[in-house]
Parts: sequence; C-alpha cells; structure tokens
Amino acid sequence: MYYEKLLNEQKNIGLTRVISFTSGKGGVGKTNSLINIGLALVNEGRRVLILDADLGLANVDILLGLTPKYTLEDLLYNQKNIEDIIIESENGLSVIPAGSGVLSLLNLDANKKSLIISEVERIAKDYDYLLIDTGAGISDDVLFFNTVAMEVVCVINSEPTSLTDTYSLIKVLSQRGEKDFSILVNNVKNETEAKNAYKKLFMAVEKFLRVKLKYVGFIPSDPIVNEAIFEQKAFVDMYPSSEVSRKVVSLAKNMDADFFDFRVKGGIQFFFKELLEQGKYGSSLNGCYGSDFSF
Ligand SMILES: Nc1ncnc2c1ncn2[C@@H]1O[C@H](COP(=O)(O)OP(=O)(O)O)[C@@H](O)[C@H]1O
Ligand SMILES: [Mg+2]
Repeated sequence: MYYEKLLNEQKNIGLTRVISFTSGKGGVGKTNSLINIGLALVNEGRRVLILDADLGLANVDILLGLTPKYTLEDLLYNQKNIEDIIIESENGLSVIPAGSGVLSLLNLDANKKSLIISEVERIAKDYDYLLIDTGAGISDDVLFFNTVAMEVVCVINSEPTSLTDTYSLIKVLSQRGEKDFSILVNNVKNETEAKNAYKKLFMAVEKFLRVKLKYVGFIPSDPIVNEAIFEQKAFVDMYPSSEVSRKVVSLAKNMDADFFDFRVKGGIQFFFKELLEQGKYGSSLNGCYGSDFSF
C-alpha cells in the first residue's frame, strides 16, 4: 500500500522524531502550539525542523516574522531543492515554508506529495524533531501528512465543534491505519476545563473507535498569545516567564523525556507504534493512555 511504502521509507530518517500537529476544526491553535513547543525544544538543545504542510494557507513563516525567498511551490515547480527553500529563524528553528494563497499547492497528486516527503526525509536526519503543521479537517492533504508522521498530536479546544470534528478526523485516520493519538487541549481556562474536554472526546472515541488516546496536557488561554502573533514572534521568546510559556516549556520537556527513554532503549522511530501496541514500551507512557486516565 502506498502509505505503508512511505512509512517504510521513513526508516531512513534514523532517530528523527516525526510529529504532526493536526485538528478537525481550524483555528484551534495548531500553528501557535507547534511553533512555541518547537522553540522550547530548541531551547532544550534539540535541533528542530518544521514542515509547513498547511498547503495553500501556510502561516508558520508569518508567525515567526520570516520572509522566505522560496517555498514548497518552488520545490515542486521550479526545480529548487529542499536546501534552497529551508529558512532559519533567528531563534534557531528551521522552517520549510509552503506559501500562502498558492493555488498550485492545493490538491497535490500522490507523486508531488511523495516528492515533498522524500526531499524532507533527505534532510530530516540532521534534526532531532520534524514537526509537521497540517491544515485542519479531513482533506486528503491533512490525512496524508498525518499518516507519514510517527506520532499524531490532535490539538483541540473545549468547544463541541472542536470535539466532534476531532472525532471525525480520528475516525478517518483510524481507517487509514493510525491507532495512537496524542491530545493537546489549547486555549482553556484551566486544567479542569482541559480534562473535561479530553474526557468527552475520550468517551466518544472509546465507545465507537478502536484507537488509543493519550492526554499530553493543556495550554491556557492568554492574551499574550495574540500580542506575540501581532509582533510575529513566539510567545515563549517574548514572555518567557508567563504562565502560558511555562506550560509550553514543561510540555516540551515531557515530550523530550519520552524521546530520551525512546533513544536509550535503542529503538528507531519506525518501531515506536509497534512497541506501544505490543505493550512493550517503557513505563513512562503506560498509564498516560485514555483507558488508564482518571479524572
Ligand atoms: N492559548 C491561546 N490563548 C489565546 N488565544 C489563542 C491561544 N491559542 C490560539 N489562540 C487564538 O487562536 C487563533 C488561531 O491560532 P492558530 O495557531 O493559527 O490556529 P490553527 O493553526 O489551528 O488554525 C490565534 O490567532 C489566536 O488568536
Ligand atoms: Mg495553522
């Protein structure tokens, strides 16, 4: 199968951890979460590459105040290679930009998407993390970029529309073989609101779908998120001691601690899911799963 082939090819990435940030509903905070978690990982000494896969409506570059010379459009249509289009922010994030309002990036055929992945794969081995910012919804592009990631982080908020759309996305992805999903609750007042939202999603998923959910934490609602957006800067850079930044830093540290275990165990990312499914993965992740989660 096409996707299995791509997953097999990912073995070559080596120890790069590939994580997609996705959502059923748009505007829930995928791009802001990804950028700030990415930057927190950079501040931990990790090498982080971001692939802007919200093709046609990309905004990683805008949120980081970057002005890319070339984008994925040039990779696909103007014979540029990935080294030509990759751009580094002054705070140390490497970004593969996609361009906004570029119609030729919409509804790419399988060959073009495969070209993007094989070019990204070529350079991803120089990084510890490849974070993929997907669009929202259940379009082919969204499904594709989630399927090539090793871990899928669904960003949700507490609105019923976010929960129902996320349920639909998880359902469709599970039909494509994805069985493990991490849930990050964004833009909520407090942990109670976050866990209530997670619980609602978990109960629906547990009843009707055969997948595992893992609650990874929450990011509080804070007006500084918008202030940073207007400055085109990451809030963890602009307001490092704010509550929202401290929360994101601790999320990134937890994420990285899992990665550390994973490296020490000598696994390669391709086996990550298999180990989880067989219950052989270390104790740090067991107990985080929905079935063990208690409120
Ligand atoms: N934690 C938060 N606190 C306050 N506002 C937020 C927060 N996260 C996101 N937002 C708001 O949501 C908007 C959409 O965020 P964005 O990351 O662009 O979402 P997505 O990538 O999912 O479309 C932002 O422009 C901001 O106004
Ligand atoms: Mg976005």
